[in-house]
Parts: sequence; structure tokens; C-alpha cells
Amino acid sequence: MRIAVCPGSFDPVTLGHLDIIERASNLFDKVIVLVSFNPAKNKAVFSVNERMEMIQKVTSHLENTVVDCYSGLLADYLKMTGASAIVKGLRAVSDFEYEFQMALANKKLYSGAETVFLTTRGENMYLSSSLVKELASFGGEIADFVSPEIHDFIYERLTGKKEQN
Ligand code: PNS
Repeated sequence: MRIAVCPGSFDPVTLGHLDIIERASNLFDKVIVLVSFNPAKNKAVFSVNERMEMIQKVTSHLENTVVDCYSGLLADYLKMTGASAIVKGLRAVSDFEYEFQMALANKKLYSGAETVFLTTRGENMYLSSSLVKELASFGGEIADFVSPEIHDFIYERLTGKKEQN
């Protein structure tokens, strides 16, 4: 069985992440969406449980996809679960240098770790969790950037108020 891991902070999961997860689920037998966190450097707005719940909600239509969390090295998680691939989305050249470094480090730490890059869709080129947080914190509309199932939860948390329809 070919198992892939889609790792990230997912603070919160965006439509850009979801696109990559859906495409990974078409390519692999099983996909683990992994909320990776470092308790010593926690700058996240959403708790690990909240991030996992949001991912569960937006991936419920994907039968071969599960959600997990881990606070250690990704390479160790792959060894532990028998996963052979790390799937990451690439938005622009600016993503590449960091992702290339991570791919090489993970391969060095565990030779069974293959990193697979999927190019993002054009409409998601500029999309990031940080952009969603910045936009919503000023009361801006985020409906084009996050799934409808989690929109209100994100909006209310970041603005402290319910959206007027
Ligand atoms: O969504 P992000 O913040 O771009 O995700 C980065 C992430 C979580 C994938 C990356 O930081 C990671 O893999 N962290 C786990 C620790 C690790 O294995 N680091 C790489 C080897 S030093």
C-alpha cells in the first residue's frame, strides 16, 4: 500500500491545502494529513485539536484520507507509519528553496522518504493560512479561501464576532 503524508501547520486549512490533499488522495492508496507542531515554538492561533477537526470536516468526502498530529521529526513519523511519500504544494519559486532544503533533509534522515511536489492551481498562487488570518482579523471576506464547513468558525474566532449576512 502506498501511503503519503501531507504535513503542515494548517493554521487554518485553506482551499489551497484542500486542493493538494484531494490530488494526493487520487495518487496514493492512503493519505495522512498531518498537523505538525512544536510545543516549544507554538505561535498558532488554532489549537492542534481545532486544526485537526477543521481538516476532518473538509476532507470527510475523501475515503482514503485520515488526520493525525505529531510533534516530532517528519522523517520519524514516516518510518513509524510506513509512509513512503511526503506531498507538498508548491506555489511559487519563493516556496522552492525552503521546500528543497526540507526534502533533502528528510531524505538524509530517512532514505525511504520521497518528497512529491504538486504545483498549486493558479487561483491559489497567493493563498496562505497567514493571508486568511490577516484578512479575517480585519473583517475581510474569506469565503473564497476556506471551505464553507469551517468558514464561520474561523471568521468568528478571528474577528470575535458573527458575520452579518
Ligand atoms: O505549513 P508549514 O508551516 O509550511 O509546514 C512546515 C512543516 C510542518 C511541514 C515542517 O516544518 C515540518 O516538517 N516540521 C516537522 C519537523 C521536521 O521534520 N523538520 C524537518 C527536518 S529538520
